[in-house]
Amino acid sequence: MSEAAPTSPPPVVLGIETSCDESAAALVDGRRRVLAEALFSQEDRHAPFGGIVPEIAARAHVEVLDRLIARVMAEAGLGFRDLAGVAASAGPGLIGGLIVGLVTAKAICAVHRLPLLAVNHLEGHALTARFTDGAAFPYLLLLISGGHCQLLVVMGVGRYRRLGTTLDDALGEAFDKAAKMLGLGFPGGPAVERAAGAGDPERFPLPRPLLGQPGCHFSFSGLKTALRQTIERQGPAALEPPALHDLCASFQAAAGDILVDRTRRAIAILRREHPDAGALVVAGGVAANAALRARLAGLAAEQGLRLIVPPPALCTDNGVMIAWAGLERLALGLVDDLAAPARARWPLDPAAEPALGAGIKA
Ligand code: KG4
Ligand code: ZN
Repeated sequence: MSEAAPTSPPPVVLGIETSCDESAAALVDGRRRVLAEALFSQEDRHAPFGGIVPEIAARAHVEVLDRLIARVMAEAGLGFRDLAGVAASAGPGLIGGLIVGLVTAKAICAVHRLPLLAVNHLEGHALTARFTDGAAFPYLLLLISGGHCQLLVVMGVGRYRRLGTTLDDALGEAFDKAAKMLGLGFPGGPAVERAAGAGDPERFPLPRPLLGQPGCHFSFSGLKTALRQTIERQGPAALEPPALHDLCASFQAAAGDILVDRTRRAIAILRREHPDAGALVVAGGVAANAALRARLAGLAAEQGLRLIVPPPALCTDNGVMIAWAGLERLALGLVDDLAAPARARWPLDPAAEPALGAGIKA
């Protein structure tokens, strides 16, 4: 009897994330296992400024990244030569931080002759549902974070069609600005959600920009302005319960209505163009919001779609999603040159028309 052929170990990729205010490294293998991960959140360093300061972010990445990488390698008991490749976020994001992560990845690749995977950060978010739930292409992705608010059809690795984006603020940014106006600190999303839990979502009628309008774009600036005006009308009472709780609940309810309306329209397009699509995937930091998740679960049920929301730690920025996107690209031979640039802007769907008034949003 012949012996079974020895099975080769699955490929392992190191993922590096430095596009915003999280420095992260992770080792993931081709069997969807996390071998080790490390994350340093810079929140405390930016909190005094009420937002992310790019120079502080870049400097902090330089300080911690080498140690994070050394830690995951040691924890997994691997040397660089055991890796199948090194993946780093190459954009979009804050250029200083992106350069720190990408140059680090290039140095490891050059020294150890490994393939480089210059990953689009948004592709990291987009493919996480395949890592967590084995989502099959095509699916609809609602990406809601501090920097992005987009609806995309994910047709395959590197194959995206953007159906909608924001004309002004990203949803997480709107939450952060609302929190700042209400004296709730940074990052604001979790604080607004907590305060909203005790509030009356119908007490303050706030606008729902673009609701019922054609297309799938988003806009939050009118909502933000209306919130500011309502706060001004309430005077100091706005910053105390019960008005504080009611304002947060009213804001969150408006955000939920906008998300459901825009996503329902995107599902109609998905149905027409990809009748085989079976899932609505939600990703990005705002997906941690339980009230918004519940609204989207209702929509998915109504539309007969499976709702996939990766666990919060994989919705916010992390190294695992970059390693996984790297593994997916490596499996298809989509390897990058050591000259691959860091890009502050890098839309997943370069063919998408710029949304009118979209400013710098990708
Ligand atoms: O994806 P992420 O960690 O970073 C990027 O922007 O790429 O998202 C952070 C954003 C912040 O704006 C934060 O306020 C928001 O996600 N966020 C939330 C919640 N948790 C985080 N927004 C609403 N409700 C939450 N529970
Ligand atoms: Zn992100």
